[in-house]
Amino acid sequence: MNDPHRELVEKGYDRVAKQYLATKDPQDPLALSALEEMARDLPPGAAVLDLGCGAGVPATRWLAARGFTVTGVDFSERQLGLARKLVPDATFVKADMTALEFEPGTFGAVVAFHSIIHVPREEHLALLEKIHRWLGPGGLFLATLTLTGFEGEDYDWEGWGAPMRWSHYDAETNVTMLRRSGFDILHAEPRTGDDEETWLWTLARKDLPR
Ligand SMILES: C[S@@+](CC[C@H](N)C(=O)[O-])C[C@H]1O[C@@H](n2cnc3c(N)ncnc32)[C@H](O)[C@@H]1O
Repeated sequence: MNDPHRELVEKGYDRVAKQYLATKDPQDPLALSALEEMARDLPPGAAVLDLGCGAGVPATRWLAARGFTVTGVDFSERQLGLARKLVPDATFVKADMTALEFEPGTFGAVVAFHSIIHVPREEHLALLEKIHRWLGPGGLFLATLTLTGFEGEDYDWEGWGAPMRWSHYDAETNVTMLRRSGFDILHAEPRTGDDEETWLWTLARKDLPR
């Protein structure tokens, strides 16, 4: 890889994978209730893609335990190493999510928790269009998107000894891009977790053919 943005994020997560995992609550009520809401509308065993799955906690593990056929994608080898141990029932792929290719209609749902924020934002629309294509009719997209725009990096994220980079848009732009990608938005609203972080929790659907 010779893209400095991606390289910084990938190597950054390689270095902070354990510290980041230590911040995660496997029973995070906000995440689990959003997953449960999505799961209620999926057939048993549906194929679910987790983009930027990290160490797999809480989302990938919850989805696998619920009986879905889960594929986790991340480009950090260290994150994937943790995920393979913590979620032995899922399939993991090391890849840049923007470079993935799947047949149209491969998945019943796609989730992306706290991960699209690291993709260069001029690529977000193309990524959302791909996600829409990968979903079958009625397929669901569950994501934590952002309320404010930001483009920049921290040379020592959380004092963990690694730089990190973020690139994202405000809520209105995120919602506009989802609609332009063809999604029907079921909700896109600010929700604050026990960690006091507020994200634009978004559940969107690919319409059934009329
Ligand atoms: C903040 S962590 C979130 C991990 C997990 N989804 C969670 O909620 O705990 C972001 C993850 O996205 C991954 N990531 C960022 N950009 C990516 C890209 N372009 N392709 C694949 N993975 C990426 C990082 O390596 C990292 O593991």
